[in-house]
Amino acid sequence: MRGKFITFEGIEGCGKTTQIKLLDEYLRKKGFETVLSREPGGTKIGDKIRAILLDPEHKEMTPLAELFLYEASRAQHVNELINPAVESGKVILCDRFADSSAAYQSAARLLPKDLVDELNNIAIAGIKPDLTVILDINPEEGLKRAHVRGKPDRFEQEKMDFHERVRNGYLALAKKEPKRFIVINGRKTVEEIHKEIISCISSAISLK
Ligand code: TYD
Repeated sequence: MRGKFITFEGIEGCGKTTQIKLLDEYLRKKGFETVLSREPGGTKIGDKIRAILLDPEHKEMTPLAELFLYEASRAQHVNELINPAVESGKVILCDRFADSSAAYQSAARLLPKDLVDELNNIAIAGIKPDLTVILDINPEEGLKRAHVRGKPDRFEQEKMDFHERVRNGYLALAKKEPKRFIVINGRKTVEEIHKEIISCISSAISLK
């Protein structure tokens, strides 16, 4: 039986990582085999690309080089990890996926939407998330949380209007594909958000 592919999206500090861990524990208790992954990364090659992308010293990186690196990491990830996991019936929970490129590289970095969509389509080679959870939070709040975690990476150093465009980019994607996306208010408590995610997921992928 085909597994499920669930992705989590949102701006920095929206709480994705906490929620992915909680959902993973919940699904394992229910007897599901899960795989946790993230982008950029998820594979040995992807992790090397991730280090290049997030290095705060790489200030000269062009938007196009950035896009290609995300897509290279993604192409490897889909082929090496996501497709095999889904084909063997596992539930894969992924911290960011192609929607991140639409929000960051297109809506925020202002690369042409058609270009980003086309490269995304090539990299994902037909696989789409069954469900995408967006944790929606305002950038002031998100960045405050992200900064508590330590030295800001290349993206956390961006100005507030960049993060505002990322947020609006996500909300526009969710509006266009309301069946795939669930948008949750990221200012709710960790427990409230967890419950909301479980209830949406249960109805979408019949976990009961
Ligand atoms: P990470 O430390 O994982 O951030 P977070 O905890 O907020 O997910 O860094 C990933 C960064 O890469 C994040 O700032 C978003 C950015 N990104 C893109 O710009 N495009 C993409 O396609 C992906 C997957 C991530």
